[in-house]
Amino acid sequence: MFKKLDIIDDINKNENKLLRSISKEVTFPLSKEDKEIIEHIIKHLTYSQIEEYEKKYDLRPGMGLAFPQLGILKRIIVIVDEYEEGKFENYVVINPEIVSNSKEMIAADAGEGCLSVNREIEGHVPRFARVTVEGYDIDGNKIKIRAREELSIAFQHEIDHLNGILFYDRINKDKPFYSDYEIRLI
Ligand code: NI
Repeated sequence: MFKKLDIIDDINKNENKLLRSISKEVTFPLSKEDKEIIEHIIKHLTYSQIEEYEKKYDLRPGMGLAFPQLGILKRIIVIVDEYEEGKFENYVVINPEIVSNSKEMIAADAGEGCLSVNREIEGHVPRFARVTVEGYDIDGNKIKIRAREELSIAFQHEIDHLNGILFYDRINKDKPFYSDYEIRLI
């Protein structure tokens, strides 16, 4: 049975303190509770990207969530990437780290959104076009993921959450928008 996560409620309560905190490294084995939360997040993010369920459950679409967004200061991120129409790939990374990145920068055309930020904030968020992320899967196995374009942005956005950073912190107040050409020169 699908039960909606009360993400917005949690966030309104916690935005100032917990979302701005540095989350702690996770040790293995993961608790049963953490595994359940991960499953719940995957379901939530997947459903939020399927129009029928998005409407039915009144979900705000999102492809990623980090544990601190639920008020839990653990270094766990979940991304559900619709890599093809109706096809989803799940990424759960514990203690994720960006171990290398492209010089080339990109930004999502329409800016970024966040389930923790309950309003539209305009502006381009400069991100690395490609990143390699290392971390652990839920069983504690070491994993390495190479991400590019939208998925690369998602990883950087979620990892920022573990360090108390929100996307709008990275918008240049003096120059909030870049052309495709300009952003690649940052
Ligand atoms: Ni976010």
